[in-house]
Amino acid sequence: MNKKNIINSIKLIKFYKFINYNLIYNNKAINRYKKDNYKISGTKAENLDKLKKSILSLNNCDLKKHAKNIVFSDGNPNSKIMLIGEAPGANEDEEGLPFVGRAGALLDKMLTAIDLDRKKVYISNIINYRPPDNRRPTDEEIKRYLPFITKHIEIISPKILVLLGSTAMNALIGNEVVISKMRGKWIEKRFGNCKTSVIITFHPAFLMRQPAQKKMTWIDLKMIRDKKI
Ligand code: URA
Repeated sequence: MNKKNIINSIKLIKFYKFINYNLIYNNKAINRYKKDNYKISGTKAENLDKLKKSILSLNNCDLKKHAKNIVFSDGNPNSKIMLIGEAPGANEDEEGLPFVGRAGALLDKMLTAIDLDRKKVYISNIINYRPPDNRRPTDEEIKRYLPFITKHIEIISPKILVLLGSTAMNALIGNEVVISKMRGKWIEKRFGNCKTSVIITFHPAFLMRQPAQKKMTWIDLKMIRDKKI
């Protein structure tokens, strides 16, 4: 190696050391999804604002290019009950609020049936931007948004977490489970510092296609109504 190459190698090593020491010596893949950009401190409102800003500043997501608005949440951040759906549709994208279309109208009826409404609960989705043509979010998209919804749960810290449909269930509970076996059970789960009782039920859009399943959902709703929190 001539002198020039040695000097260049030293400069390169210094540079790598400056940006990330492990890059040269560690052959493990860099996990871009596990980055925890901030710690939870400050008020709930401040943390929600920070979380929303970090989603808004995400720059490797194609969904954002097609969407009109971020759909972050609706309802009462101090509620003990948080509901999580899949992803916004056309109406939600237009208004920037979750569950305001036809599935949302059914969700409102489901909540009313157990003396709740969207001012008494807190609602969000696994994905914060509308997938084009209302397609299901891909695994890659779910992986990208998972740290945000996990942080969202931790900030709200609900006593009851209601997962609406299999996308929310698979994203937060695991891919190996099926909704027909998992719905209607309490599962104790921890998200960061938040310990919560999770219940899975059918997604309202699914219930519109399969109204016969509404009787199962009624069982789940009564479990939520009767849970001591
Ligand atoms: N379906 C969802 O999963 N979320 C919404 O916000 C609307 C429809």
